[in-house]
Amino acid sequence: MNDSPRAMIYGANGYTGQLIARLAVERGMRPTLAGRNHEAIAALAGELDCPFLSFSLENAAQIAPHLKDVAAVMHCAGPFSQTARQMMDACITTGTDYLDITGEIDVILAGVARSERAIGAEVALLPAVGFDVVPSDCLAAMLADRLPGASVLQLAFVGGGGLSAGTAKTMFESLPHGGRVRIDGEIRDVPNAWKTMEVPFRSGKVHCMTIPWGDVASAYYSTGIPNIEVYTAASRKQVARVRRFGFLLPLLGFKPIQKLGQSRIGKKVKGPSDDVRLKARSSLWGRVSDDQGKSIAATLETLSGYELTAQTSVAALERTLAREVPRGFSTASQAFGKEFILSFPDTDIVWAEPVAV
Ligand SMILES: NC(=O)c1ccc[n+]([C@@H]2O[C@H](COP(=O)([O-])OP(=O)(O)OC[C@H]3O[C@@H](n4cnc5c(N)ncnc54)[C@H](OP(=O)(O)O)[C@@H]3O)[C@@H](O)[C@H]2O)c1
Repeated sequence: MNDSPRAMIYGANGYTGQLIARLAVERGMRPTLAGRNHEAIAALAGELDCPFLSFSLENAAQIAPHLKDVAAVMHCAGPFSQTARQMMDACITTGTDYLDITGEIDVILAGVARSERAIGAEVALLPAVGFDVVPSDCLAAMLADRLPGASVLQLAFVGGGGLSAGTAKTMFESLPHGGRVRIDGEIRDVPNAWKTMEVPFRSGKVHCMTIPWGDVASAYYSTGIPNIEVYTAASRKQVARVRRFGFLLPLLGFKPIQKLGQSRIGKKVKGPSDDVRLKARSSLWGRVSDDQGKSIAATLETLSGYELTAQTSVAALERTLAREVPRGFSTASQAFGKEFILSFPDTDIVWAEPVAV
């Protein structure tokens, strides 16, 4: 009998959940695979020779009995706006550590809001252990370490490889709500494509616009920096379109439009093939600046978003099961160290400017 602490992967039949489940098994784990689709979960569990459970996520009281004897849940069922709070609450009730692969600002903040309760229950709350935000969070923490007192953090990324249905649904859900940045410590709503800049990635400059990425929430806890903007690639034409038609985006928030859009995405978007996922790469850039005009920048190159998410999630789960992480809410760099990202294959950082010693 295997007496190592029991892990559960919920949403294991999804595009990303499956990558995580397969890698976990490859690395010698035998997690319980869970989800709401009984047939899909049973088939995957049969193939990977893992135990399985099917249940849905209506509320914490209904989830908690399924977490009995589970040491840590890797939660992969998104959009997390609809699933994370009840899973976190159930984990706090049962003393189960919680990890997820969200990149949603409000879900990260839901983890922050539950931190005290989680500490009381000796539970670790670790939202966002995937591509969003592990590489950018570690980059932010490494930059902040080299410029104590920095007041502005700017992060940017470009990623190849395409989108899974879950990611496309999550983006579609967030579109009507516009952009978000952090100003003087507070998260503020701003228009979509609020600011643009030419970002000097390692392979050259790329035109980028601000987006409401998870670091707007998490990097504040990792670095204490009060002003945070996150950018991603968008051509001048795309930015002009977003700005011109931005006033129409709130219409996408209407329930019937969301329902229709989500269902079409579910039918049409399949996620990157293995070949694309394994070949594609992601590029990140970050800069911290202080009020005296000093700044330090760096670029980070790593695996494609989904490949990296599988690898960081399984590593995070292993470290959590080994009880190596703090209790309560932590960001990735707080839980695993700011150089965590450098432990993954084909990943390196290049400092763009000399560091004063
Ligand atoms: N942080 C990152 O970098 C990163 C990377 C990858 C993915 N993600 C996020 O992870 C989430 C999943 O992505 P994916 O690629 O795996 O998508 P996917 O292929 O659509 O899979 C979604 C999974 O979640 C389940 N699910 C969705 N809503 C649910 C609900 N209300 N209750 C119970 N289960 C539910 C689905 O179950 P059914 O099969 O029954 O529908 C399926 O198992 C998305 O939010 C995505 O944005 C983040």
